[in-house]
This record gives sequence, structure tokens and C-alpha cells, in this order.
Amino acid sequence: MNMNMNMNMNTKSRLITLWVVLYFCSITNSLAASKQCHFPAIFNFGDSNSDTGGLSAAFGQAGPPHGESYFHHPAGRYCDGRLIVDFLAKKLGLPYLSAFLDSVGSNYSHGANFATAGSTIRPQNTTLHQTGGFSPFSLDVQFNQFSDFQRRTQFFHNKGGVYKTLLPKAEDFSQALYTFDIGQNDLASGYFHNMSTDQVKAYVPDVLAQFKNVIKYVYNHGGRSFWVHNTGPVGCLPYIMDLHPVKPSLVDKAGCATPYNEVAKFFNSKLKEVVVQLRKELPLAAITYVDVYSVKYSLISQPKKHGFEEPLRACCGHGGKYNYNLHIGCGAKIKAHGKEILVGKPCKDPSVWVNWDGVHYTQAANKWVFDQIFDGSFSDPPIPLNMACHKHL
Ligand SMILES: *[C@@H]1O[C@H](CO)[C@@H](O)[C@H](O)[C@H]1NC(C)=O
Ligand SMILES: *[C@@H]1O[C@H](CO)[C@@H](O)[C@H](O)[C@H]1NC(C)=O
Ligand SMILES: *[C@@H]1O[C@H](CO)[C@@H](O)[C@H](O)[C@H]1NC(C)=O
Repeated sequence: MNMNMNMNMNTKSRLITLWVVLYFCSITNSLAASKQCHFPAIFNFGDSNSDTGGLSAAFGQAGPPHGESYFHHPAGRYCDGRLIVDFLAKKLGLPYLSAFLDSVGSNYSHGANFATAGSTIRPQNTTLHQTGGFSPFSLDVQFNQFSDFQRRTQFFHNKGGVYKTLLPKAEDFSQALYTFDIGQNDLASGYFHNMSTDQVKAYVPDVLAQFKNVIKYVYNHGGRSFWVHNTGPVGCLPYIMDLHPVKPSLVDKAGCATPYNEVAKFFNSKLKEVVVQLRKELPLAAITYVDVYSVKYSLISQPKKHGFEEPLRACCGHGGKYNYNLHIGCGAKIKAHGKEILVGKPCKDPSVWVNWDGVHYTQAANKWVFDQIFDGSFSDPPIPLNMACHKHL
């Protein structure tokens, strides 16, 4: 205001004209980009953060009480209910995604989910059955599955009949949203092999080089719209804090282990660099980078503010500081006096808990996280989910 007082009317009106011109330019600009995207399908790649039944189909169902809050029975998810990817599908008006590996009752007309719990970006040299073992369906395998799915879908869709109602159309692949939430297990795997934080950091570039390749492969298969979650604050998760407890000086105000979160942040900064490179290398791709880390961390560091409690303890688990025991997981039973007793018990009200089973978030937390991210507040570029097909320079 003070500044304006010294201006003569002429300058003022010229400034206003300039402002009006700029304003209309920006409106026309955003008009061009403001048409809502039509995503006929979602193809998701990832780990347990977005597994809707893949690992369960291959290695046995994640048993009760998983699913209790929403599906009221186990539903292939490591959660009491729905995951971020479920809320994302719902927001786009699409049905929940069937897991590619699930051969019973699946309907892929609006996409497929290649994520499995325990998946890494890099193939591992361990099996699922080892302690700290990881899923054999690493991101390269998920891509192979996608590629085969796409090829066979075109063949069967043309056969008509029930296939037409169960499989996407050929053109849906270029209009689909491709979502990614993977990397957490690549970091965790190093710690399960007793590596130091520096050793884990040292292999992050290799992990991300392999991630970058897969995005390029999907692009070469027609994918254009990409929605990429960064990795969460793994140092706030009971399974990591319980595995290798850190010195009190390395515990932050929220109670999380700083070194593990530093690795996650390092991974995310490199992931962001990869996204910037990919935007240059893939001229027709719209790639949205979503900072899920910050959202999850603010939930864990200020739970009360958001209506949650006890963010560092597992709702469903057994014993110890974090109500988490690697060997007695959520739903675990023991035999005593000839009777089976549930020891991996769920908490009374999962809707106020952040952590479900020591590794995964509750449905309530997943919903809260999704509600923060879908409008673009944590995205680069800052555009909402339903605009994620538009390329921004
Ligand atoms: C698995 O072993 C191969 C051969 O030794 C090695 O090149 C690769 O980096 C290993 N993978 C991981 C995830 O450690
Ligand atoms: C698959 O889902 C689509 C969309 O909800 C629906 O139109 C179609 O009938 C379903 N197919 C079968 C066989 O249920
Ligand atoms: C990691 O260290 C623990 C404790 O010293 C040991 O029991 C475990 O076997 C080690 N794991 C690996 C993969 O070396």
C-alpha cells in the first residue's frame, strides 16, 4: 500500500493493465491444461504399501485380522482395510484394482495391480522364506508381467464375449494412469543384511537406475501418465526400529530413528533427480512426483493434531516397545494347553492408530495420507490427481 502512494496514476494504470494481461495469459494457459484427465485404467507397481492381493495369491492369504475394518475378511491387503491405491482408484471413479496374480474373481477392465508385498526394485538374491527375505516379484518381474498382460489382453479382448468385459481396451494403455510406490524394501533389505547406512546409501544409485529403466520400458509400451510416490519415513516404522535400535542421540523428536530416515530422504532426493531426467528423456510423458514422505512424517510427528494416537506402536502385534515382534506378527497364534490363542491381536479401535502391524499403515492413516496428496499439495508439479495426464514444463 505504502508503495502505491508514491506512484502516479499513469504508472498505476500501466501496472494494472500489465497485471490484467498477465492474469488472462495465465488463465488461457491453465485453460489449455485444465481439462480433467480421463483415466480409463490404473496400472500399479509396488510393494505391500499398494498390494491388493498379489503376494497373498502366490504365498498364502494375509489372514485375519487383516481386512477387519472394511472388507470384514482378509482381502489380500496388509492392512485392516483399504490402501492409498484403493482411495486413489475410488477418487478416479474406478473399481479397486485386482492383483495380476489373482486368478479368481479378478476383473481387469479398469486396470491391474502388479504390486506384491515385499517387492524391491532390484531383484534380490534371497528367498521370501529367509528372515528379511523379499518377494520374488521385483519391479523388473512386475514389468514383465505387465508387458505380457498388455500383449495377451489385446488378443483376448478381440475375442469378445466375457473377455471384453474383463479386460481393458487396447487404447486404454496409453490413457491409463501408471502408479508406482516402491523402494522401501530396497532400503530395508540392506539393513536386514546388517549393512551400515553408508553401505545402503552406496547402492541407492543402482536401485534408481533400475527404476528409471522400468519407467522407460512402460513408456515404450505406450504409458504416458505416471504418478510416482516417494518412499516413506522407514525410520519411524517398528519393524526397522526393532531390528537395529539406534542410540538415543539418533532418535528424533518424533521418536523415529534418524539414520534410517536420512537414507529414505537420500533415496527421495535421488528419485526426484531421476524424475527430472525422465521428463527430458521421455518427451510425451507427464510424470508427477508425490512427496508421501512428508505427509507420513507429519502424521507420525503430530498425531494428536490429526486425531491419531501412538504413531510408533503397532495396532496389531505382540510385545516389546513397539508392540511388534518379527516372529509373532499380526494374527499370529500360539498353542498353549492344547488351545490356540491369538497373540498377534489387533487394538480396539484401529481408526485412531497410524501403524497397523509394525510395517504397514492402518486404513485410517492411508485415507488421511491420500486426502493430503490427491489435490497436488505435495506433488511436483503441484497438480491434482485428475490433472496428472498433463505435461507441465
Ligand atoms: C545379487 O548378486 C549379484 C551377483 O553377485 C549382484 O551383482 C547383485 O548386485 C546382487 N543383488 C543384490 C540386490 O544384492
Ligand atoms: C468387470 O467390471 C466392469 C466395470 O465395473 C463391468 O462393467 C463388467 O461387467 C465386469 N465384468 C464381469 C464379467 O463381471
Ligand atoms: C545380522 O546380525 C545378526 C546379529 O548379529 C545375526 O544374527 C544375523 O544372522 C545377521 N544377518 C545376516 C544376514 O548376516
